[in-house]
Amino acid sequence: MRVVTIIPTFNEIDSLPRTIARLRAAVPDSDVLVVDDNSPDGTGQLADSLAARDRAIHVLHRQGKEGLGAAYIAGFKWGLEAGYDVLVEMDADGSHQPEELQRLLSALDNGADMAKGSRWIRGGKVVNWPLHRKLLSLGGSLYSRILLGVGIKDITGGYNAFKSATLRRIDLDSVESVGYCFQIDLTWKTLKAGLTVREVPITFVEREFGDSKMSGNIVLESILLVTKWGLRSRWKALRGGNTSTRA
Ligand code: GDD
Ligand code: MN
Repeated sequence: MRVVTIIPTFNEIDSLPRTIARLRAAVPDSDVLVVDDNSPDGTGQLADSLAARDRAIHVLHRQGKEGLGAAYIAGFKWGLEAGYDVLVEMDADGSHQPEELQRLLSALDNGADMAKGSRWIRGGKVVNWPLHRKLLSLGGSLYSRILLGVGIKDITGGYNAFKSATLRRIDLDSVESVGYCFQIDLTWKTLKAGLTVREVPITFVEREFGDSKMSGNIVLESILLVTKWGLRSRWKALRGGNTSTRA
């Protein structure tokens, strides 16, 4: 089974080397793809120098900061084209523990089509997150759960592993989210395709270096899109229901 872990970066020069070193030690079988949006701090060049020393490391350079969603789509397309069987999403800043990756991979081995690292199920934890981030994450998950009618506890989570077949079933070109709503988007598309999403408890540790790129626009995009998807699917169910009663 060929695995690639995709790490999107924007100004992560202090975090990236540590995260990659931990990943290579914890799961030596996973290749690494860094997707850098032309970080002004030189993260892209640093990634190149890591790649020059380790054949398992690859780098995709993009023109500029186009959002987490766009970076992952480019990374997924690269990985599918290269023939990987499993594609993993991981933040660069050390929030996702590479030492926990094996648990996500095991969930795929045991039949899940997507494994989702979860902070909000039994065994999941958050370390050093300020109260407002905890509330935003819990509130965002709750809102999505109600509107979309799904049971996932940590739907905004960004530590995810997919079988390649799962990503091939999803039309990646139809993904409309730019920011972190991308995580909800992919989970929702996987569920809508009738595939299995299994939550795996993880410990999320707030970054030590650099800054989060979370913003008001990212939150607004999530609220608008989740509301739109939720209403649309309810409307469809209603119309579908009417048709079947008439038939
Ligand atoms: N290439 C690229 N382009 N990378 C980006 C961009 C972008 O526009 N925006 C963010 N990233 C990268 C960061 O460099 C980091 O590696 C990762 O995406 C996560 O960004 P953070 O800014 O550290 O996210 P966070 O800690 O606030 O949010 C985390 O929790 C969210 C809520 O659960 C992440 O795990 C999100 O994915 C998650 O939705
Ligand atoms: Mn972070």
